[in-house]
Amino acid sequence: MKYHFDRIIDRRNTHSYKWDQSVKLFGREDITPLWVADMDFESPPAVKEALVRRAEQGIYGYSIKSDSYVEAIIRWFERRHGWTLRPEWITDSPGIVTSLSLAVELYSEPGSQVILQSPVYYPFYDVIRMNGRQVAKNPLILRDGRYEMDYAHLEELMRGGAKLLLLCSPHNPGGRIWDREELLRLGELCLRYGVTVISDEIHCDLALPGHTHVPFASLSEELANITLTCLAPTKTFNLPGIQSSFIVASNPEIKRKFDMRIKTLSLHMTNFFVPDAVQAAYNEGDEWLDELMHYINGNVEYAIGYLAEHLPQVEVMRPDGTYLLWLDCRKLGLDVKGLKKLMFEEARVAFSEGSVFGTEAEGYLRINLACPRSLLQEAVERFCKAAAAYAVK
Ligand SMILES: Cc1ncc(COP(=O)(O)O)c(C=O)c1O
Repeated sequence: MKYHFDRIIDRRNTHSYKWDQSVKLFGREDITPLWVADMDFESPPAVKEALVRRAEQGIYGYSIKSDSYVEAIIRWFERRHGWTLRPEWITDSPGIVTSLSLAVELYSEPGSQVILQSPVYYPFYDVIRMNGRQVAKNPLILRDGRYEMDYAHLEELMRGGAKLLLLCSPHNPGGRIWDREELLRLGELCLRYGVTVISDEIHCDLALPGHTHVPFASLSEELANITLTCLAPTKTFNLPGIQSSFIVASNPEIKRKFDMRIKTLSLHMTNFFVPDAVQAAYNEGDEWLDELMHYINGNVEYAIGYLAEHLPQVEVMRPDGTYLLWLDCRKLGLDVKGLKKLMFEEARVAFSEGSVFGTEAEGYLRINLACPRSLLQEAVERFCKAAAAYAVK
């Protein structure tokens, strides 16, 4: 391995949300935080070098994204996903959740139903509710330890008048990479009922070996025409702190509305550090990303293997992608409070507690696997040891 994903980097007292906020939230220093979805790995060396060079300029003035920035994005999606983007389809946004929220505001009516597929990344609920819309839940079906979409219920919601759908692809939590047929079937319904799709594909680059992400809008021109895709280099290259993302919309009407709102809110200027960092990541990050996913895959295998051996009561969903592992802990017989006590007080680990992703995920936990293996081992071992007391009951 060229890159050192095993290296422990102390992130304490670095304004880290994951590490420093955990101390505040859980009231103790000795907790291993594997919740917030960033990685405990350095970004690709080219990104770090670009940022250092940029910092050394000393003048931190207003900045622009030049053609080379957009070209880097286009080349990446062509190379990694076989998806050809045009520069005029792309607009920058400070973050995916910002884009999701703007999309709810722009493409649905106040008070109307907006569809999500639960359990799902919790800000999906917030952006719907906080914009005065209603959550139209299309719970995923758990079949043979994997999530599948419930098309019959989806159609009911669309027939009932829902005109906007927030798609999480790949899916967080659960790590499903929706395959072509699943997406086409979803797309057919959206076309039939005039539903606009906001496709959050922030995890698109994090496919595990043997899996391929299919961009929803790449399926056909017809589907691209009803879709706004939210993308970012931030999950892929561990850059969420620099706050950078973009949307892709080939439909000029959808795009125009989004651009106007971004301008109205004065969100169109870029962060000084973003263009160089993102360009370096997309132009020079391929090899790093391939090694990263190889390492993450090792963490997936380790965690699945260890849990199966030491805590078989917990059912683990094998992810197709992402660096997230979704555990069904319902057989431990603990309620939300009990699970939190087990994690924070007894095992001294902070995984994400399931019910924040949807009421149907009560009794589940999500582990962020993007950390050095030794850290993961320590956390999983402590968790299994503490949980064993409940498993025997
Ligand atoms: C599905 C999904 N969307 C969006 C985000 C956050 O994106 P941003 O930080 O750009 O708002 C995350 C982070 O975990 C995520 O998992």
